[in-house]
Amino acid sequence: MASEFPEAREAVRTLPSYIAGARPDGRPMWKLSSNENPNAPGPAILAALAEAAGAVNRYPDMAVADLTHAIAARHDVVTDEVAVGSGSVALIEDLLQAYCEAGDEVVYPWRSFEAYPICIQVVGATGVPVPLTQDGRHDVAALAAAVTPHTKVMILCSPNNPTGPTLTRAELRTLLGAVPSHVVVTLDSAYIDYARDPEATDGFELRAEFPNLVILRTFSKAYGLCGLRVGYALGHPEVLAPVRAASTPFGVNTLAQAAALAALGLSDAVAASVEENVRERARVVEAGRAAGWRIPDAQGNFFWLPLGEDSARFVAGANAKGLLVRGFVGDGVRISIGEPEANDLVIELLQEWRPAEGSAARSL
Ligand SMILES: Cc1ncc(COP(=O)(O)O)c(C=O)c1O
Repeated sequence: MASEFPEAREAVRTLPSYIAGARPDGRPMWKLSSNENPNAPGPAILAALAEAAGAVNRYPDMAVADLTHAIAARHDVVTDEVAVGSGSVALIEDLLQAYCEAGDEVVYPWRSFEAYPICIQVVGATGVPVPLTQDGRHDVAALAAAVTPHTKVMILCSPNNPTGPTLTRAELRTLLGAVPSHVVVTLDSAYIDYARDPEATDGFELRAEFPNLVILRTFSKAYGLCGLRVGYALGHPEVLAPVRAASTPFGVNTLAQAAALAALGLSDAVAASVEENVRERARVVEAGRAAGWRIPDAQGNFFWLPLGEDSARFVAGANAKGLLVRGFVGDGVRISIGEPEANDLVIELLQEWRPAEGSAARSL
């Protein structure tokens, strides 16, 4: 019998689901499952939000003018080189909408941020996932080799969620040099503030040479505003104009604009919160390695345990200890760096728990 409901497009009916990090179910749990910033907003952000809240009977500024100016000033670029979106995920969607016809190819590393294949499939493009190397890094040669005449966009993620390593400056340059200039190369730098690898790059110095490079940044991680949904793209005006044109009108809400603007003025506090996370990351990762875990280079506010088939068992063990972590079935477990007390529990867990003999997560 024919369904009584309208049928969605096949691409949408067959989408992989986005699995959000687990949330507490009433028990007190440490939430280390979504790479959030553990620090709640301070008084300056709360004051900006309170002031902006009084005007929410009005539409937001559609041009996001004040925030765009502040971002442009921060990066020493002109405002046409900035596009603000309701989170960097929305900018990925807008960019794919702007550049991909049905059947066009989008090359991306895998495993990486799980929104990529979903966004690609929604626009009707064909995703071309390129496996990471054994140590969780982008396979630069394979990414370059995956480009065909049908490729419209390449997405790169540095530091890579969920595995942790960054692309190096040399790797990014090699890729940009190998990819034709009509392919938009999107460097998702959501976690770049946490990177301490001296070879890591935010891609900025390569923009003049490669106008097809678009850099994505977010207020969700280092700035701690993920609940408000605001991110931005930096790129050539000609490349960004279609991205802006494809975006939802008034997509960046009034509170998000106000809080992000205020957050840009809090550089010292943001830097201090990032530094604390980086210190805690070193403490946890070093303790884990000392306990016999093989942990790929962790450059974001999280680290990766390549547990394979043992992942579900580990997640259950973490839950029993009051920790919510993000398991990827059959692949591995990602743990965010959180409050020091939560990180203490993670260390305890890593010391108590032993990956199976022969597991890729085991170094000793
Ligand atoms: C690699 C990566 N990019 C983007 C995002 C999402 O950013 P936003 O909150 O700006 O949409 C995340 C969030 O987890 C992420 O891991």
